[in-house]
Amino acid sequence: MGLLSERGWTIATEPRRPAAPAAPDRRPTDPTAPASPMTESDDLAAMRREYTRETLSTESVATDPFVQFQAWLAEATSAQVRDPSAMTLATCGSDGQPRARVVLLKGVDPDGFVFYSNYASDKGRQLAENPKAEAAFYWSELERQVRVAGDVARVSDTESDEYWATRPRDSQIGAWASPQSARIRSRGVLEANEADSTHRYGDGPVPRPEHWGGYRLVPRRFEFWQGRASRLHDRVVYERDRSGAWSRWRIAP
Ligand SMILES: Cc1cc2nc3c(=O)[nH]c(=O)nc-3n(C[C@H](O)[C@H](O)[C@H](O)COP(=O)(O)O)c2cc1C
Repeated sequence: MGLLSERGWTIATEPRRPAAPAAPDRRPTDPTAPASPMTESDDLAAMRREYTRETLSTESVATDPFVQFQAWLAEATSAQVRDPSAMTLATCGSDGQPRARVVLLKGVDPDGFVFYSNYASDKGRQLAENPKAEAAFYWSELERQVRVAGDVARVSDTESDEYWATRPRDSQIGAWASPQSARIRSRGVLEANEADSTHRYGDGPVPRPEHWGGYRLVPRRFEFWQGRASRLHDRVVYERDRSGAWSRWRIAP
């Protein structure tokens, strides 16, 4: 585990695992020097596991990928997967540089996948430039991944307001306090903003900032991935045609 310092470097906060016994020790003679990158990558290269829990086929999945998603999400939830609604959201603005980050899925219906964020954030800017995204869920305990790709649009103000009203007050204040993705001098900036907003709204309701609201990812493609032995995983893809009908097929791992 690591901490992100103010300068953006990752600082290890737990001792490194010892190198595998067979790996030669390439550390410099200075015992206080950090382990060489080679030692770390030897550790990484040895990390693997076999996936053997379940199988997946075009015959076993639902005709409607939303139904299949709901079934897998329900299984992830009842298997007590940590943060089953967490999805890695990849976006790409006009500079062609993809960016990915985790957001929480706050609703799924036949229209799409809803998440909430700051419209003025990096992802908000990228989505304004190129309103397309892919979301990936990884449910490690179930050896499953789901990818959902499509167009993204803001949800209505009414829908954002309804969700905003369900958020804890601290989170509402937090949305006002954080200029998400903007460079800030120090944590003190956030704390000062938080105190400011807390004071401004007193005991009254906290209104939703105009720059905060929901997005709906409307899928054109789904992929369901089930880990299998020997890296011969099962992958089933669905795509929607112009009429709105879904077809599905198997792809190679
Ligand atoms: C488990 C988890 C859940 C998160 N949920 C959200 C979320 O729902 N909305 C959001 O804007 N950021 C969420 N974040 C923070 C984002 O990953 C990211 O730091 C933030 O949105 C800024 O991203 P950007 O600078 O690329 O726009 C979450 C992070 C984690 C680790």
